[in-house]
Amino acid sequence: MIVLGIESSCDDTACAIVEDGKIVHAALLSSQIDTHKEYDGVVPEIAARMHLEAIFPLMQTVLEKAGMKLKDIDTVAVTNRPGLVGSLLVGVGVAKGIAYALGKPIIAVDHIAAHFYSVQLTNETPFPHIGLLVSGGHTILCKITSPYEYELIGTTLDDAVGEAYDKVSKHLGLGYPGGPVIDRLASEGDPKSIRYPISMLDEKNKYNFSYSGLKTAVVYQTEQFLKEGYTATNENIAASFQRSAIDVLYRKTKKLTEETGIKHVSISGGVAANSHLRTTFSESEDFTAYIPERRFTTDNAAMVAGVGYHMAKDNLYSEINIDCSSRVIAKKKRGK
Ligand code: KG4
Ligand code: ZN
Repeated sequence: MIVLGIESSCDDTACAIVEDGKIVHAALLSSQIDTHKEYDGVVPEIAARMHLEAIFPLMQTVLEKAGMKLKDIDTVAVTNRPGLVGSLLVGVGVAKGIAYALGKPIIAVDHIAAHFYSVQLTNETPFPHIGLLVSGGHTILCKITSPYEYELIGTTLDDAVGEAYDKVSKHLGLGYPGGPVIDRLASEGDPKSIRYPISMLDEKNKYNFSYSGLKTAVVYQTEQFLKEGYTATNENIAASFQRSAIDVLYRKTKKLTEETGIKHVSISGGVAANSHLRTTFSESEDFTAYIPERRFTTDNAAMVAGVGYHMAKDNLYSEINIDCSSRVIAKKKRGK
């Protein structure tokens, strides 16, 4: 089954053609980062307009790359939640147009489920497994029960982990997005030079996350946590911040694997590209970690097409009047 995947939930326009949820014939992305850089973050109105400009040429190129025509597509899968509503509407509108004009079925895909599925593009992860989603918008711990179903266990109470990277970077004057530059600087700093707090929270929030304290500590209290004999260089700040930011992800994930007895963990989202995270999780002796290839960690449409394939196989097609929503749903069940 050939699925055309469309993704436009934030600031990346993406189209992909994937066969049977696994064979990626073509997957392309048009990133808006250079535009949003000027504002140190994503401007929703600009994002929506840029999706509109990018989506048709991108789809044309994806079809050419895959050596296919629109009529070769069996199903159209599109992200309809969660995300920026103006951005989602562009992808959903285009998907509806294609489905209606060609008489093909359409499937609404949850962006969180799609991120979790990105791991399956290059791995075979047994179900159920624990899913950790770490991106600019989300820090989520889930139990994943199928290629498109998950149960939300923990989420962020304030800033997402990627957002904390971006804000620390902004504070240090290193620009947007912050993740890659902090990651690079961290490799030249000493992670033990500044003892920033690790926010484990109380028992009630044992699987939730909070990054605003760490961010505040970096911005306002670095001197207070600086260990004797060290200087607060950008490299040391980056390395120490990164240690605290990633440690809490590891500790909470480990705790959940112990409590559930599920020892397989998938990690997805933009922050899954982080070198310290990749090493820490993949070297774990507490559980087996599955991490997507770096190109599938950020928003992409191959993961959307992958989820679409499995939903189609289970006959979970959508009506043509799909709605968009900014909200995360707590429990992603069959076809809901
Ligand atoms: O998944 P993504 O592309 O977009 C969504 O938020 O949905 O994630 C983007 C986030 C940004 O906050 C960026 O700073 C972060 O991922 N990021 C990283 C790295 N590369 C990207 N964070 C830490 N280390 C990286 N190497
Ligand atoms: Zn995303």
